[in-house]
Amino acid sequence: MHVIKLDAIDSTNDYLRKLILGKNPTAPTVVVSQYQKKGKGQRGQAWISQAGKNLMFSLYMPNFSLPTKEVFSINKIVSVCLLHWLSSFQMPNICVKWPNDILSGDSKIAGILTESNVHHLTASPFIIGVGLNVNQVEFQNLPNATSMQLLTGKSYDIDALLFSLTTKLIEYLTPPIKNYNDDYHKYLYGLGQSRLFSRENKMFEGIIQFVNSEGKLVLETTAGTQAFDVKELQFVDVVDQ
Ligand code: BTN
Repeated sequence: MHVIKLDAIDSTNDYLRKLILGKNPTAPTVVVSQYQKKGKGQRGQAWISQAGKNLMFSLYMPNFSLPTKEVFSINKIVSVCLLHWLSSFQMPNICVKWPNDILSGDSKIAGILTESNVHHLTASPFIIGVGLNVNQVEFQNLPNATSMQLLTGKSYDIDALLFSLTTKLIEYLTPPIKNYNDDYHKYLYGLGQSRLFSRENKMFEGIIQFVNSEGKLVLETTAGTQAFDVKELQFVDVVDQ
């Protein structure tokens, strides 16, 4: 594993994407930064994180590609890896809220942003960005955010966490890759329960059935069983970090 440590950068995802361009590193490559000036979240949101308190990194795995139709499976693998890893630190009530918000109860502890290029039927390379709240204890304007320290009362060595989590991610992303679909659903927030959603500014209720191989959330609604893309559907109670 090749690790690049930075004090500050716009976004570790963007830095790593430019770094690998034309170089095709043969070893897994990690970029970690104490602070991001323009940290990116899902759905074009910003990822705001206090300097030096949290873990923010991006990982590139050489020779990792997926059929375009199966791109979402990387979110399932990375989510399950984080869920298993956080559980090993006794974080309570860890779950994944579709598509890949990592929660403790109803509070967000980590976010994942995977980015790839699509060439015809194949997607690669993948940049896997992870933001994990570690030692931050105050989250202004983010009432649904939590951290490892808030959950356990302990403070953590961020470098040690980086090594442990990236080692586990590399293990999960190295062939032969297991099928983590069952594990993803075991931890899926609201599975079998009714939740409020919004789509095109209209609110409706749906019972969460499963997340299909394309990453669509399948809901039982008054209009029947419907699959929704991540771009069109939102949980109404989401307070994004
Ligand atoms: C989310 O919105 O939940 C995804 C957040 C992902 C944040 C991480 S921090 C490291 C990497 N670099 C970025 O710009 N974003 C990801």
